[in-house]
Amino acid sequence: EKQGFRHYMLKEIHEQPGVVRSSLETYLNPNWHVSENPDFSPINLGLSSQLYENTDYIQIVACGTSWHASLIGKYLLEQLAGIPTTVDYASEYRYSPKPVIPKTLTIGVTQSGETADTIAALEMERARRSKLDSKFQAQLLAITNRPESTIGQICNHIINTQAGIEIGVAATKTFIAQVLGFYYLALDLAYHRKTLSNERISEIIEGLHHIPDSIEKTLETQDKAIEELAHNFTQETEDFIFIGRGINFPIALEGALKLKEISYIHAEAYPAGEMKHGPIALLDHKVPVVAVAMPGSVYEKVISNAQEAKARDARLIGVTSAMNSQEAAHTFNDLLTVPEVEELLSPILAVIPLQLLSYHIAAIKGLDVDQPRNLAKSVTVE
Ligand code: M6R
Repeated sequence: EKQGFRHYMLKEIHEQPGVVRSSLETYLNPNWHVSENPDFSPINLGLSSQLYENTDYIQIVACGTSWHASLIGKYLLEQLAGIPTTVDYASEYRYSPKPVIPKTLTIGVTQSGETADTIAALEMERARRSKLDSKFQAQLLAITNRPESTIGQICNHIINTQAGIEIGVAATKTFIAQVLGFYYLALDLAYHRKTLSNERISEIIEGLHHIPDSIEKTLETQDKAIEELAHNFTQETEDFIFIGRGINFPIALEGALKLKEISYIHAEAYPAGEMKHGPIALLDHKVPVVAVAMPGSVYEKVISNAQEAKARDARLIGVTSAMNSQEAAHTFNDLLTVPEVEELLSPILAVIPLQLLSYHIAAIKGLDVDQPRNLAKSVTVE
């Protein structure tokens, strides 16, 4: 039941600290120490050693929010484990598959495990490789919240995101859990392939351990403030633009999708550097711009892209961390602040204010947040 929350979506947003805590308990090895036995991975995924040795290339297929989680996954797999990775919409991949590359790991990401296009893309991949030499055959990994589902039966490896049942059509806690799945996979591969030092791995793990408290803090400090802010966009706002860069560009995409699907406000997301190649022409005082500006390698760039938007009279909303909030206050009209966090882990926190923003806009508009029009929780038709 809703346990006092007005909607399942809000309840599920608030469940996220607990989801992360129990996921970390399942997948991080508490007894791992930097200098110990090199065969003892810090991550408990139970993958086969063949997968560590035989993966030169990764291809990911997914839809919707799962596709956004996959884009973060690509960043992590490339940057931490050094494995070239592509991400395709499953509905596109089915009809224009890549040439077969040996030693490829194919990953299907689907909360429900039943999305028709994702299943079909994986089945096609398995079929077209099944008659080939063993090193060309598909290794299939599912990242899913329902290991007993169809995808669980197709794949020979599974990461169970174990976020618990999600009732709201808008994915929230399952998104966070999928993203965590990619941190584990990237760290596990990095560990076995020695692309990261044990010291760096341990630093990232330490950072992960702080995430549940930081999500809690974000919910405590931001929920009411974002609800208040949301009132500004419930009457006349017809369009929103979201911008982000690097590991947080997918968070801009996710913020825009959440807003579209539950509040019915048109929203687009762009890599911040792309604005000047066209979309900036859309901006005026009626189009709010949300910039995901988390401290890190591209922070200054995002700020300067945000300032360009401000010069076109756009109302600027910034998602940033406590570390930068004083400075960022000069740029943004409204600031949504999360606790300090290193760039690599920042998407897990940056998405929380965006979930709340779309939720509150839709709730104030009196819309059916949990069952938005035209949408189903599980898309089992093509
Ligand atoms: O069950 P799946 O993860 O495969 O679902 C994919 C999309 O249909 C899903 O993420 C959809 O975009 C959500 N409603 C987004 O909130």
